[in-house]
Amino acid sequence: MNVQIDHNLEEIRRFRPSPEFAAGAIAKPDLYTDAAADRVGFWGEQARDLLHWHTPFTKTLDWSNPPFATWFEDGELNVAYNCLDRHVLAGNGERIAIHWEGEPGDSRDITYAQLTAEVKKAANLLTSLGVSAGDRVAIYLPMIPEAVVSMLAVARIGAIHSVVFGGFSPDSLHSRIVDAEAKLVITSDGGYRKGRPFPLKETVDAALEKSETTVEHVLVVKRTGEDVAWTEGRDLWWDDEIALVDADHEAKAFPAEQPLFILYTSGTTGKPKGILHTSGGYLTQTAFTHRNVFDLHPETDVYWCTADVGWITGHSYVVYGPLTNGATQVLYEGTPDTPIPGRWWQIIEKYRVSILYTAPTAIRSFMKMGRQIPQQFDLRSLRLLGSVGEPINPEAWIWYRHVIGGGSIPVVDTWWQTETGAIMISALPGITDLKPGSAQVAIPGVSIDILSDDGEPVTGTDGGLLVVTEPWPSMLRGIWGDPERFTETYWEKFGDKYFAGDGARRDTDGDIWLLGRVDDVMNVSGHRLSTAEIESSLVAHDLTAEAAVVGAADETTGQAVVAFVILKERQQGVMTNEEASELLRTHVSKQIGAIARPRQVFIVPELPKTRSGKIMRRLLRDLAEGREIGDTTTLAETSVMTSIMEQVR
Ligand code: WT7
Repeated sequence: MNVQIDHNLEEIRRFRPSPEFAAGAIAKPDLYTDAAADRVGFWGEQARDLLHWHTPFTKTLDWSNPPFATWFEDGELNVAYNCLDRHVLAGNGERIAIHWEGEPGDSRDITYAQLTAEVKKAANLLTSLGVSAGDRVAIYLPMIPEAVVSMLAVARIGAIHSVVFGGFSPDSLHSRIVDAEAKLVITSDGGYRKGRPFPLKETVDAALEKSETTVEHVLVVKRTGEDVAWTEGRDLWWDDEIALVDADHEAKAFPAEQPLFILYTSGTTGKPKGILHTSGGYLTQTAFTHRNVFDLHPETDVYWCTADVGWITGHSYVVYGPLTNGATQVLYEGTPDTPIPGRWWQIIEKYRVSILYTAPTAIRSFMKMGRQIPQQFDLRSLRLLGSVGEPINPEAWIWYRHVIGGGSIPVVDTWWQTETGAIMISALPGITDLKPGSAQVAIPGVSIDILSDDGEPVTGTDGGLLVVTEPWPSMLRGIWGDPERFTETYWEKFGDKYFAGDGARRDTDGDIWLLGRVDDVMNVSGHRLSTAEIESSLVAHDLTAEAAVVGAADETTGQAVVAFVILKERQQGVMTNEEASELLRTHVSKQIGAIARPRQVFIVPELPKTRSGKIMRRLLRDLAEGREIGDTTTLAETSVMTSIMEQVR
C-alpha cells in the first residue's frame, strides 16, 4: 500500500452540507429509503420518470441467467429522441444545449432545437450511406460539436458507435475498427491541441492501410482546413454530404436492450476489450446520476465535464446524461493551458459555469502551477465540484474546494468504470457529510460490498476487493465478440457478483475508500492502461529482448508508466542506454498513443523472476518508486536486484 493511501486513511475532516444547499437540493434522503425498500422497483420508477418510452416496459429486470441481465426488456425507446426532440417538444428548443469553445478561441452556441436539426440530418446521411440498425460506426473526432452530433445520429438509427479517442495511434484505431467490423469511420481533417493543428484523417488513412477492412466510407468533417489525402469513392466531406439530405427525420423506437455503443478499454491482457452498453438501462442510470449527483437544475445550471468524448466519462457525462436531462453545458476542444495558463478558469468565467466535473490529475497539475492563476478569474458561479478517474488525495480535494470552489461548496468524488457505465459510488450533495479522499457511499439502487479473496465479506476496516452484488441498469452487457472473456474477467471469481478489479476498504462510518487496482491495469491521469499491452509494444521493437512494465506512483498523474527493458544481445553497445531508452519511449507512444508513453525506460541486464519464471513486478515497483526493495527470497537469482539497481540509480 502506498504512502498516499496510508495518509488518506488518517483523514478525518468532514463537511456538513449547508442548510441552504440541502433545502434546494434535487436529491432527497427518501431516494435511499425507496431504493432500499424495493431496489428493482426503484429503478423502474426512475426509468419512467427520467425517460420517454415509445412503448412502456412491463418487466424491469431479468436476472434469471446471470451474468447476462436485461433491463426494461419489453420497453421501446429512442435514445436520441430522449436527448433531443422531447426537449424541443416540451418548449425548451431555445435552451442552449452546448456552449462550444474551440481552442483557438472560436465558439458556437447550439440550442436544443439546432442540435436536434443537425442530428436529424446526420441520421439521414448515415442511412443514405447504408448504415442501418446494429451496424458499427467508428468515430475518431476531436471535441467539436460534430462528435456529439455523430454519436446521437448513430444512436438515432439504432446503430452502434465505437468512439476512439483522438490520441490513439493508427495501430490502436485499426485494431478497434477491425474488432468491431465498422462499416463507416467519421473523422475530421484534424483538431487543435496546444496551439497547433494536429491531423486525424491521416491517422485514419494509415489505420485503413494496415489491412483490408469492412469500412466502406470515411466521412470527414472540416475543422482545421489542413490538406488531407483523398481516396475517391471512399472519402466524403461531411459538409458536402449533409447539404444533400432531408432535414426531417422521425426517431423510430428500438428495444431497450438495443446495443448503443462499444467502447474499448484496457484489460489485463494486451488486447483491449470492447465494452458493450445498451440503451434503456444505460440511459436511466446516466440520467439519474447526472441529475442527483450533480444536483442539476436544468433551467439555471451551466454544467461542464472536461472529459473527452473518447472516454466513458465523455459518453455518460458529456453526451447521454446531460442531454437526457436537458442540461446546458460547455464543450471545450483543447488543452487546459492554451493559449493562457488560466484557460479553463477563463471559460468558467465566460459561461458562468456552475457545475464542474474533472479529474484529480488535472487538479494536481493546477495546484502545481499555483493558486494565483485561477485567482485571476471570477469563479463565483461555481456551486458544485465533481471528481472522477482515480482516488483524489485529501490535499487536492481541499485545494479544489477552497481555491476553485471558494471554500464552501460540495465536492463529490465519483467512483465508477467503463464497465459500470455510470456512477456507482458517490456522496449525494445536500445529503452526505463530505469526507475528502473517500468516494463514500453506493448511490441509491446500487449494492456494493467488499470481499476477501475467497469471497467472504470483509468485516471492520480491513481492505478487500470491491464487488457489485446486484445487477444495475447501466451495467455492461458483454465484451464485443468475446462472451467468455466477459464471464471470466468479471464473474468467475465471485459467481453472480461483479468483480471490479479495485481494492477498497470501509472506515468506521462505513464510508468506502478506494485503494487502486488489484490487477495489472494502471491508471495514468485517470486513463486506464494495461501493463501487458505496453510490454508487448516494447517487445515488438527490434531493440528489445524482454520487457516489464509497472505503474509507479506519480505526484501529478497518479501513476506513471515505468518500463524495464533487456536489449537483444546484438543490440548491446550499438547506442547508449539513454538513446535506446528514448527510442523505445517514442516507439510506444507511436504504437499505442501518447498517453501510453513511458515516463522512464530503464535498460537493465536482467529482470527479477521467481523460480517459475514469473516477473516480480512488486520489486520493480519498489525500485521505480525509490523505496527500499522488499522481500527478495522468492527470486530465482537473488543477485539480480543488485545488478538492476546499478542501472537505475
Ligand atoms: C478505474 C476505471 C469512471 C470514469 C473514468 C475511468 C479508477 C475511477 C475513481 C475514483 C478511485 C477511481 C478505478 C476504476 N477510478 N474513478 N473516484 N476513485 N478510483 O474509467 O478508464 O474505466 O477506469 O478507474 O481503478 O476501476 P475507466
